[in-house]
Amino acid sequence: MNIILFGPPGAGKGTQADIISAALSIPTLSTGAMLRAAIKAGTPLGLAAQKAISEGALVSDDVVIGIVRERIAESDCRNGFILDGFPRTIPQAEALDKMGAKIDTVLDIDVPDESIVERMSGRRLCSACGASYHVVHSPSADGKTCDKCGAELTVRSDDKPEVVKNRLGIYHAETEPLIGYYQNKGLLKKIDGRGTPAEVTGLIREALGI
Ligand code: AP5
Repeated sequence: MNIILFGPPGAGKGTQADIISAALSIPTLSTGAMLRAAIKAGTPLGLAAQKAISEGALVSDDVVIGIVRERIAESDCRNGFILDGFPRTIPQAEALDKMGAKIDTVLDIDVPDESIVERMSGRRLCSACGASYHVVHSPSADGKTCDKCGAELTVRSDDKPEVVKNRLGIYHAETEPLIGYYQNKGLLKKIDGRGTPAEVTGLIREALGI
């Protein structure tokens, strides 16, 4: 099954992608995670993406389309994949159509802007393995280190309030039009993302029939 997880920044795409990926034994392709890994490694891709990410802007379509095209061609995607954070613009969606991977479902996780700011200000990420926590909704055992690998938890640089505001503005202007794009293809399923992570997982399982 090829799935797109769609929704505003902080809607819970990454949280749900981890769960569905394990349930269906298919990989998650998160463009945000790939770009952050490239920044950490100091690769040319990372250097090209760093400024846009720190400002909450989008990385150029060409760059992101290129990394997804390469990743989708890898052997572990043969039985399906979950796209988290891609496509984010109409040109990206059109490029995905041309990659030849048929999309089965687009899950649109719907969360109002007010909740987004609260979710992102409380997010903590493991500095080593990237596991995601929330200080209130899903804290690590001691609140400071990762339950999975013990490394220190950090705040994502683009989770500062002024950058979050910019990311939300860009989502509404450039990414939201994709809702109509996938509605017209009959692929869009709305998921109410306001509940607890477990409640949202339940709605997603129902929508996917798993
Ligand atoms: P990316 O990493 O994709 O960020 P995003 O889409 O803005 O999404 P987030 O990762 O912030 O949130 P999420 O929806 O995954 O929520 P999460 O599960 O973490 O992209 C980062 C940047 O990279 C972009 O700004 C852009 O610059 C660039 N980029 C990436 N893709 C690109 C593309 N295609 N084109 C161009 N540029 C691109 O949850 C958030 C928090 O809430 C967590 O703390 C979590 O624990 C908590 N939480 C989750 N679910 C719930 C719940 N149900 N209730 C309460 N809390 C919850």
